[in-house]
Amino acid sequence: MIKIIKKLEEEIKLFKINNIEDLEVFKKYFVGKQGLITKLFKNIKYLSEQDKKNIGLSINNLKINVLTKYNFFKQKWHKLEEKITTNKSLKDLTIYSNLFEIGSRHPISILKNKIINIFSKKGFTSIEGPEIEDDWHNFTALNFPYDHPARDMQDTFFIKKKMLLRTHTSSVQIRYMENNKPPIQILSTGKVYRKEVISIRSHCIFNQVEGLYVNTNVSFIDLKKIIEYFINTLFNDIPFRLRPSYFPFTEPSAEVDIYLGLNNKVNKIITNNTGWLEIMGCGMVDPYVLKNVNIDPEIYSGFAFGIGIERIALLYFNINDIRIFFQNDIRFLKQFKSSF
Ligand code: PHE
Repeated sequence: MIKIIKKLEEEIKLFKINNIEDLEVFKKYFVGKQGLITKLFKNIKYLSEQDKKNIGLSINNLKINVLTKYNFFKQKWHKLEEKITTNKSLKDLTIYSNLFEIGSRHPISILKNKIINIFSKKGFTSIEGPEIEDDWHNFTALNFPYDHPARDMQDTFFIKKKMLLRTHTSSVQIRYMENNKPPIQILSTGKVYRKEVISIRSHCIFNQVEGLYVNTNVSFIDLKKIIEYFINTLFNDIPFRLRPSYFPFTEPSAEVDIYLGLNNKVNKIITNNTGWLEIMGCGMVDPYVLKNVNIDPEIYSGFAFGIGIERIALLYFNINDIRIFFQNDIRFLKQFKSSF
């Protein structure tokens, strides 16, 4: 019986009352003729004399709780009604309300904002652009020749012949360079799409933060320094390496891996049992790309990098399956809080 009383006590506290109907249901549910507390009272006769006294008292307290909450709301609404009739513009700012639940940011947005914040401290400004893109901005201007196998690196969802869902946010950088002169220092961020098999490590939708810096005398050392700064800030001095790679729009190009080791299950899964996790691509902007947007490569040079947020988020939040970011499961999302 004591357990039931405790449970009821909680239930009374948590019972949501948003309007007059709720209030009457609340009263009836607990202290109406068939109410839970009324029933408890009826069972008292089966108890010992001593228990009758103690438990009787506890049940009575429950009843008092119900009636206090009931009267509290009743009075509030009564007062409010009075005020509205006497002065239509007056609002009761103290009125009890649990109509809305406050949401939280998605973990991917939390991490995206954090990354943007890290780079903004070095002078990068964040921009956005269209997710439906034309062939020029997504491929041709970025030095992917027609029919070149490099186009297969990014399996594409086509909408019609030369319109597609962007495969990377580098397309937004082309748009920006077409309309602005150096010095340029931007981050292009947002969702990108690739026709890939969905697995625990990859998805056909994901988010990127891509950086671009174009100025006079930009060198690979500048690129390496900014990567080092980023990794040290986000992961606290974790080992990393630059591995030579190929992208049509950068020359030379590299991929950046961070070292996680193999000492727990998540690390094994997300590094594919190597201990190394690839987190970004980077390189010096190919002179052909600069020419395509009317920036003179004899005067200017630049670097670019692209970060996949979900990959890093697995590690950052210690999660072992990328698909969970896209399922919108409220039990998962509720666990994240952020000031960003
Ligand atoms: N755009 C590339 C991708 O999405 C990443 C990248 C950006 C690589 C800039 C090098 C330089 O795969």
